[in-house]
Amino acid sequence: MHADIEKILLSETQIAARITELACELNNLYKGEAICIVGVLKGSTMFMMDLIRKLDMPVKFDFMIASSYGERTISAGCVNIYLDVRMDVTNEHVLLVEDIIDTGNTLSCLKEYFISKQAKSFNIITLLDKPERRVKPIKADYVGFKIPDQFVVGYGLDYAEKYRNLPYIGILKDSVWQDN
Ligand code: IMP
Ligand code: MG
Repeated sequence: MHADIEKILLSETQIAARITELACELNNLYKGEAICIVGVLKGSTMFMMDLIRKLDMPVKFDFMIASSYGERTISAGCVNIYLDVRMDVTNEHVLLVEDIIDTGNTLSCLKEYFISKQAKSFNIITLLDKPERRVKPIKADYVGFKIPDQFVVGYGLDYAEKYRNLPYIGILKDSVWQDN
């Protein structure tokens, strides 16, 4: 385990097993119909790549950069889109992939945005959900794991751009916060 990690919350094995279950649910939902998958950079990338390899329908994918977060870990309450999707999602089934829903600010803005683009359907899948922290009434259609209100890193999730490459999801040690 990495020296900055207090505890492993979700192991590689647990994550992989849950992704297999989620992919199975999505395969049942879309029943072979083509979908457009949109990943919110950068946190969702590992989850998205592991997930799409288990999907059996035709898949196109693209990315967005939308963030209410800077280098610090407090949500600002409004979302900026720094990079938009390039594919036309009008009349397409859109599946938005997130790493974590925290306050819900990012997703509630993105949901409105895709509805305005007239997608045929819009679903949200998130690897992690911290329901205790929600300020916007948004729910993901598919959730990997509900987690307590603790700051987690690894498997795509960062603290100040670090720890994304850890293969598991872990809780950062307090000393790491205090040093910054
Ligand atoms: P929201 O708009 O507050 O729901 O913020 C969601 C975004 O905040 C996520 O996509 C993450 O990038 C980031 N975030 C929220 N909680 C955590 C955490 O525990 N670890 C790492 N990133 C987080
Ligand atoms: Mg994110």
